[in-house]
Amino acid sequence: MRKNVIVGQSGGASAVFNATLAGVYHMADDLQTNVYGMMNGLQGLLEDKIVNLGDYIRNQYDLEVLRNTPGAFLGSCRYTLPDYNEQPEVYNRIFDVLRKHDISSFYYIGGLESLKTLSKLCTYAKLIGCDDIRFIGIPKTIDNDIPLTDHTPGFASAAKYVATSVKELIRDSSIYGRDFVTVVEVMGRDTGWLTAATTLCKGSDCSGPDLIYLPEKVFDPEKALEDIARVRKNKKSVIVCIGEGCKLADGRYLCDVDESNSFTEDASGKRLLTGASRVFARMIHDRFNCRVRAVEFSALQRSACHMASKTDNDEAFTIGENAVKASNLKHTGEIVIINRVSNDPYQIRISVKDIKGVFNESKSVPTEWILDDNSGMTEEFEQYARPLIQGSVVTHYKDGLPLHMPYIIF
Ligand code: F6P
Repeated sequence: MRKNVIVGQSGGASAVFNATLAGVYHMADDLQTNVYGMMNGLQGLLEDKIVNLGDYIRNQYDLEVLRNTPGAFLGSCRYTLPDYNEQPEVYNRIFDVLRKHDISSFYYIGGLESLKTLSKLCTYAKLIGCDDIRFIGIPKTIDNDIPLTDHTPGFASAAKYVATSVKELIRDSSIYGRDFVTVVEVMGRDTGWLTAATTLCKGSDCSGPDLIYLPEKVFDPEKALEDIARVRKNKKSVIVCIGEGCKLADGRYLCDVDESNSFTEDASGKRLLTGASRVFARMIHDRFNCRVRAVEFSALQRSACHMASKTDNDEAFTIGENAVKASNLKHTGEIVIINRVSNDPYQIRISVKDIKGVFNESKSVPTEWILDDNSGMTEEFEQYARPLIQGSVVTHYKDGLPLHMPYIIF
């Protein structure tokens, strides 16, 4: 008889979120397993919102389209499990649903907070002596802040998008030959991996961003304005890349300097970070009285499947397959991770690690990789990030636009 497994997606999207889902499906289906999907992660599971993925992924073509579809095919959530002592009924409910569907393995694709939630579930499973359901976490996030793994699926494709877009903006912003400052805002609440990746556009055909500011360092507006004055002495068009999570010395987010930016929340109920580029652009204008433009990539940088890195898409798929292999080898309470074997040639090895490690400190960009004058990143960053953005993904097109999977109507 076929076994049943279940998979869920949780947290913010990435261009390869669904590639991992496709990897899980592919390997589990190969192993003659029914693959259920929880709609909107644990939130949907609690309401028994479950679909049979085999009804939607009917052949190799569907699998390929899924791999290149943005967003989260199963829908996502920003759901944090309460502590068991406080709300045991939530845990009981989850296990009731899992038993009802006779689930033998549970895969959760998510970022740091989602993996922490899965870890709580693993601890509870141990507590109640449940050894017939295996729990495996599969990392994803454009923020690249998950400890234990060399890098996280999703980061590289977003990196390729921001580097390409900055490269294009550098051309656009120089057309008039007049004084101009462009401030580009990049995602990453606590870490600046993605902002750092904008420097990857530097090369023989591109000067790269002139200045970059990462959340890893306190943002000093006065010092940054001095940096701009320095660059303006030799250049008419200045490109500044800034992390959405940059904070001032007093602990406030830069975007909060303008209170009208705090009008909305992100999906976890936290203040949505938006507007750092507008705030800084205003400061630049007030100081230099020059033309300024603020560009915020926002969700575009995590949904650009047309610009995805093939390396990232392949790794995201493989990591999903490996999650299934791990549970088949009776692993549980672990996450699948990427170990880098070498940079040149770029080689990785996939393995698993105890999920409790996700409670370690989140992984920040080493500050020694940021050049002291904020003009870019060191060679170490280049060696770390460059291999990850290699290759392009062939997407299927329909009527001139990329083709995506149809929505699941539940
Ligand atoms: O998942 C990470 C992330 O993309 C952050 O970079 C960003 O600050 C946040 O998610 C946005 O959250 P939401 O998905 O709720 O818009």
